[in-house]
Amino acid sequence: MKPPMHAHPRLTCTPVRGTRAVTTLAQDALAGMMTPPRGLPPKYFYDERGAQLFEQICHTPEYYPSRTEAALLEAHADELIRDCAPEHLIELGSGSARKTRHLLDACDARGHGCVFWPFDVAEPMVMSSARALIDDYPWLSVNALIGDYNAGLSRLPLPAQGRRLFVFLGGTIGNFEPAPAIDMLAEIADLMSPQDHLLLGADRIKNAAMLEAAYDDAAGLTAAFNLNLLNVLNRELGADFDADNYRHRSVFNAELERIEMRLCARRAQRVEFAHLGRSIDIGTGEEILTEISRKFSPASLERLLEAAGLAPVRHLHSDA
Ligand code: SAH
Ligand code: TRP
Repeated sequence: MKPPMHAHPRLTCTPVRGTRAVTTLAQDALAGMMTPPRGLPPKYFYDERGAQLFEQICHTPEYYPSRTEAALLEAHADELIRDCAPEHLIELGSGSARKTRHLLDACDARGHGCVFWPFDVAEPMVMSSARALIDDYPWLSVNALIGDYNAGLSRLPLPAQGRRLFVFLGGTIGNFEPAPAIDMLAEIADLMSPQDHLLLGADRIKNAAMLEAAYDDAAGLTAAFNLNLLNVLNRELGADFDADNYRHRSVFNAELERIEMRLCARRAQRVEFAHLGRSIDIGTGEEILTEISRKFSPASLERLLEAAGLAPVRHLHSDA
């Protein structure tokens, strides 16, 4: 039998089953959208259009986190690869893995082979980036894992042998509420043997204007990304949101040290969720909380790591 056309000897793609049931969009909408305060978990942003918009957001002048993290990785990749010497690079929420290339470049320069394990819910994005990576790095094997990291990590089909570097970038840990963030990092810690490392990218607190602009770019890409969530609800749950009725907002909540992404109703609207057999009345000015992005100080980051049972060995930061 011939392998399928897209098959490649250095690329596999494995669906991952978690240990816990994951909530479906229908369940999350019933729990979060029926009565105020309304909100949804962030994983539904990343349909094909959402994943593409996120990539574009990373290139806007306002969204500094991506550039800053890329620059840190570029500057420190060689020492990280030297010191961690990973045989396996495992990335949670890898997306396009654009910044991970700095680590692969460092492996390349050192002649240090390793296997890349990107783990993400957004299969089309992961597979297109995986194909580009195996083309660009002829020594690299990519074992893509497709699944929801909120469902538990203990069933990830990772090799028992070999030093591992876990990578969790993009400030995505900030998209978790405090207790789930600790749980997530503790689950990663549980997977780690003494010679393994975790490289965690988190964003630092800075002035509200700069933070709010990063999540509300002038080109309107973040607004489109946020509003696309309403398309997801319309498509998946048979809802009838009119996206023109909503305005994107990015607000820094100084008390909770987090950016809040909201959708604000410009006018009152009744919304039907055909697949749920439910309808809701949203009033003028009512807001739906669609994403939090927590910002850290060195001290709050250290507390988070400690609560998860992780001991920091190095703290790389940028003053930009
Ligand atoms: N690491 C990349 C992408 C960050 S965006 C960067 O720094 O640019 C967040 C990524 O996490 C997206 O690719 C999204 O698809 C993925 N993601 C979000 N929720 C997830 C979940 N519950 N399980 C697995 N992946 C998830
Ligand atoms: N992890 C990214 C962050 O918190 C996710 C993100 C960036 C995001 N821009 C966004 C999520 C806009 C929703 C809307 O920075």
